[in-house]
Amino acid sequence: MKAEILIGSPRKNGNTAAMAKILTDELMSKKIDVNISSLYDYDIKPCTDCRSCKSGDLTCVLKDDYSLLCRRIEDADILVIGTPIYWYGPTAKTKLLIDRFRPYFTSKKLEGKKAALLLPAGDGAVDCDLTIEMFRRVFETLGIEYLGVVTSKLYNIGDAEKDSNLKSSITELGHCFIS
Ligand SMILES: Cc1cc2nc3c(=O)[nH]c(=O)nc-3n(C[C@H](O)[C@H](O)[C@H](O)COP(=O)(O)O)c2cc1C
Repeated sequence: MKAEILIGSPRKNGNTAAMAKILTDELMSKKIDVNISSLYDYDIKPCTDCRSCKSGDLTCVLKDDYSLLCRRIEDADILVIGTPIYWYGPTAKTKLLIDRFRPYFTSKKLEGKKAALLLPAGDGAVDCDLTIEMFRRVFETLGIEYLGVVTSKLYNIGDAEKDSNLKSSITELGHCFIS
């Protein structure tokens, strides 16, 4: 099995990255191949609603780095989206990625995959509800099985390392990947 972890935080050593590291260790111990992609390393252009992806080969015509990510996403069995909460939602970079999933609505290429969320937020779970619901519906629309989420009240760089419950929550989420 292959897992693709997509990190939507601009902070390379931030809380999302720390949560992703814990999950990576957990998945690797279960012999799951893991690749981590930091979305801020990629030029992802905004969807322009040109509707080209609705016909022909059902792919996006925009030319940018998304094609690199898209190959890894299609190749993975499990997608993990890690994004800090910015104003009750995912970061703008994460939303750019999700908007580019439009071709999959028609091609159905993500059907049968599994997905999970890692959501650090300064105020914790209370600010994650809208984001969780957004992703739940995105996954449902694309035929992706939603495995679950770990939210945590984290603000400063280093907070994840200090959260004593984080490892067990992420380990528990990791169990869902193989059951
Ligand atoms: C622009 C911006 C908006 C934010 N909005 C929220 C919010 O609505 N709710 C919340 O709990 N935290 C909010 N935060 C705090 C981040 O979610 C929090 O610091 C998180 O741990 C950052 O994760 P990172 O270290 O992976 O970047 C916001 C941070 C920024 C920069």
